Amino acid sequence: MPKHIARLVLLLLAFAVIAYAAKQYFTADSFYRFGHYRGLSVAEIASDKPKFKTPKSCEQCHAGQYAEWAKGVHNNVELGKVVKCEVCHGPAGSRDVKGRFENVATGKDHPDGLKMAVPTDTAKLCTLCHEQMPGRPVQQRQIVVATHAGTQQCTVCHNPHSPRTFKVAAPTTPKGDAATGKAIATACAGCHGAAGVGGKVAGPALAGQKADYLVIALQAYKSGARDQPVMSAMAKNLSDSDIDNVAAYFSEAKCNGAANGEKKAAAAGQAVAARCAVCHGAQGISTQPSWPNLAGQSGEYLVGSLKAYKAGARKNGLMDGIVKDLSDADAANVAAHFANAACH
Ligand code: HEC
Ligand code: HEC
Ligand code: HEC
Ligand code: HEC
Ligand code: HEC
Ligand code: HEC
Repeated sequence: MPKHIARLVLLLLAFAVIAYAAKQYFTADSFYRFGHYRGLSVAEIASDKPKFKTPKSCEQCHAGQYAEWAKGVHNNVELGKVVKCEVCHGPAGSRDVKGRFENVATGKDHPDGLKMAVPTDTAKLCTLCHEQMPGRPVQQRQIVVATHAGTQQCTVCHNPHSPRTFKVAAPTTPKGDAATGKAIATACAGCHGAAGVGGKVAGPALAGQKADYLVIALQAYKSGARDQPVMSAMAKNLSDSDIDNVAAYFSEAKCNGAANGEKKAAAAGQAVAARCAVCHGAQGISTQPSWPNLAGQSGEYLVGSLKAYKAGARKNGLMDGIVKDLSDADAANVAAHFANAACH
């Protein structure tokens, strides 16, 4: 045999030996026990420490968040649409140490060495599931981000653990007596009108306003949280039950739609008003008892209020975010729009 052929055969032989040895050495014993698989992998994975620990495991240390979440709409067990803690915060167990896959029980567990992520960009997180797009199941509520939240974070208004609960504006229940309130209202007539509209001196319309909101407003004047010389002085003379009663009286009075906004501006304000609709209603009748109606309100007063929020003279967690992005022209137009809207 020529020398070069003998060398080639020797080389091929050496490869064959190495390949056989490698197969013997590297192949797990359980390979091919159940077909072309590593037979023990299933049992091994099953014995791994879980990466996701379930909400129940968080309860012992984060009872507050757990309780809110458990009662909230994201834990609707009946419908099977459950948004668990680890969907938003990431897994509480780690098998992955510094980018290396660690298939053993030595990975870190929260809270020992593994920090949970606190989502800061909720405008991104929540819209993963809630931004309106065609083909999405309607049961999973959808919003048009531009008109619903603008550039704000969702957590400005929503409690992330119970998103149907809002962070600001705790509701109260109207418990006043309108008949008793009527007597107190005579002191208000000069500015607000005897029945809550058309006072001689400039003051906002109160007729048909939400009773809860009137109570909140009067209490705010009384405590100084809302500061306006005339009203602060008036409210200081009112007891808590006076406030409840006069609020009941004005909320039951018939509003008569000022229709005092300029028509052209009102049309321009319609587009801006879409941003207010989640709270004040598309027609200016608010969606919650503690939030004010705007329909039929004096346009001048509406503009004044928006300016006051913007300047920080009047503060409210929900409105502060809204007026930040509102230009003076938009404010004037949207005020005209609501001033023209029918109030009943
Ligand atoms: C044994 C108690 C314990 C359990 C169980 C536990 N945590 Fe924590 N958690 C802590 C402690 C302690 C901290 C604060 C230390 C830290 O930031 O790691 C914390 C912090 C956090 C933070 C805030 C981190 C930050 O940077 O502010 C989040 C979010 C969190 N945990 C979520 C969870 C979730 C979700 C679960 C369930 C899967 C859970 N935790 C289970 C003890 C626990
Ligand atoms: C829909 C997403 C979402 C779910 C589900 C969720 N969280 Fe949170 N969590 C957040 C956001 C967003 C924050 C940041 C709070 C903020 O910005 O006000 C947060 C904050 C926290 C914090 C930090 C302290 C605080 O309250 O600010 C803890 C602890 C926490 N969550 C635990 C939990 C636990 C436990 C669960 C499950 C029972 C859970 N979270 C479910 C989104 C979520
Ligand atoms: C993984 C998807 C997912 C994420 C992320 C998520 N949600 Fe949800 N959300 C749902 C589903 C599904 C429902 C419907 C639950 C039901 O009706 O049973 C829901 C319900 C709601 C509702 C109640 C809607 C109604 O019927 O009135 C609000 C409000 C809400 N989510 C706000 C938020 C906010 C705010 C965040 C971010 C902190 C968020 N969601 C993150 C899936 C998600
Ligand atoms: C300025 C406050 C505010 C911000 C910011 C905000 N929301 Fe809302 N959202 C509300 C109010 C108020 C409601 C309830 C409206 C009602 O009851 O009619 C609501 C309702 C919802 C609903 C239920 C809609 C329905 O049709 O029932 C979803 C879903 C929702 N918000 C998701 C989000 C998401 C996602 C973000 C962040 C991109 C966000 N929201 C930001 C105030 C806000
Ligand atoms: C001298 C005129 C004057 C009198 C009298 C007066 N008010 Fe006012 N009231 C005003 C003015 C002006 C404002 C707008 C203040 C502001 O911008 O904060 C106002 C605002 C209010 C508001 C807030 C309305 C809103 O939409 O936020 C309520 C509620 C109110 N008054 C109730 C009363 C009651 C009840 C009385 C009688 C007990 C009364 N006022 C007497 C001038 C008056
Ligand atoms: C997320 C809910 C929310 C949205 C969206 C919202 N508002 Fe408000 N608004 C409120 C609440 C709550 C109050 C009561 C605040 C207070 O007590 O000072 C309020 C008060 C007001 C007032 C004062 C009313 C009065 O009688 O004194 C005006 C004016 C107003 N909003 C205009 C607007 C306009 C215009 C928009 C849209 C560009 C808008 N709001 C969007 C929640 C909202």
